[in-house]
Amino acid sequence: MSEFPEFQNLLNRTPEERDQEFQRHGRLKHLIFGSQLTTELLDRLCRSADMIRRLARDREGNAELRNLLPNRRAMLYFTQPSTRTFLSFMAACQILGITCNEVRDPKMSSEVKRESRTDSVRMFSSYFDVIIMRSQMANLAEVCAYMMNDLEGTDRRSVPIINAGAGSDEHPTQALLDMYTILRTFDFDESSMSRPSRLGSLQKEYPDLTTGAANKVYAFCGDIKRGRTVRSLATVLSQYRNVTMYFITPPHDQLRIDDDLRSLLETAGVTVKEFESLDEVDDGQPILEKIDCLYMTRIQREHNSDATEAEIASIDLSPFKLSVERVAKMKSFAPILHPFPRDSIVGEIPTEIDSDPRAMYFRQARNGMWARAALLVHLFDVNEALMDAHVRLFPAAVRSASSPSRR
Ligand code: NCD
Repeated sequence: MSEFPEFQNLLNRTPEERDQEFQRHGRLKHLIFGSQLTTELLDRLCRSADMIRRLARDREGNAELRNLLPNRRAMLYFTQPSTRTFLSFMAACQILGITCNEVRDPKMSSEVKRESRTDSVRMFSSYFDVIIMRSQMANLAEVCAYMMNDLEGTDRRSVPIINAGAGSDEHPTQALLDMYTILRTFDFDESSMSRPSRLGSLQKEYPDLTTGAANKVYAFCGDIKRGRTVRSLATVLSQYRNVTMYFITPPHDQLRIDDDLRSLLETAGVTVKEFESLDEVDDGQPILEKIDCLYMTRIQREHNSDATEAEIASIDLSPFKLSVERVAKMKSFAPILHPFPRDSIVGEIPTEIDSDPRAMYFRQARNGMWARAALLVHLFDVNEALMDAHVRLFPAAVRSASSPSRR
């Protein structure tokens, strides 16, 4: 029996039909699924993130940014643990002048008095202008977005919903910041006005290398099935041409890629390959030498039943951990990403890797702040004002800011 019987008909529709509910006039109304992040929208959001990042470097730019949304209020409704997503959204709001409030412990809200979660969210919408929410319930953000649509349909107050992590299903804003990091890395400074492009010299070693997310081998290592960040990012990456994905997982059904993600990716034209160690070989060559971008993840123990815990505890995890020797085999430009937190006991990425130039995970986390600020700019439709501020302060940079697609 569903937890939301009144929304069941809507939840039963195809992914494409559900995506459509969250768009308006070619723009996002709510962000619920990774599949809403089209390549065109990603290009726009990445350009905004670049402008915000640049403006935030000086005092005048910061003042301009704080003036973009000074009368807006955000509710951060996070009933699951979070460090980076919560704080980077809060920082993004602060950059743009948005005031934040939070509910993190439902025991301190009227949910202890048996108020439904949907009533809670409707109440938040009375006081706030956007609701950013994380829940262990896979459908809650989606259902709340339908509720907002219904309210709008009857001319009542309705605000955007941002899914900041839903069960083990989706984490679209993590996919957004992952894509911002990937596209920045695979730009190889081509659109930088201050640094020379690195593409030419890299092509001497890797003749097939191109800019952008297309024509690449992406590897995901660790807990795939229960990793919502992997599901959202892989869905977004499947839109690009000539993409191969390696899924490197310990041999357990709770960790391996599940059939629905695999078939979604294959239908989109992705070549999917599975491995049980970072040291395996594909077509005669070690996979570590073929990977263009490596996405590490932790084993999400909190999802384990007692039986699974015992089974997974008996698996040797060393083939799924990075080491200096393994990283040395990777391409010189290949970024190492991790959504974090990394597991300090398992050590899937030991700290000695942190100083390697390919270790991008701390920059990736910082990119979350810029990418989430860009998303808020889009949802509140103040992109023009952002561009105006950017042109005023950096007239010389307009050319790079308006350069098209990094695909
Ligand atoms: C992830 C999450 O919560 O899904 N963390 C994050 O948001 N950066 C990944 C995880 O918990 O392992």
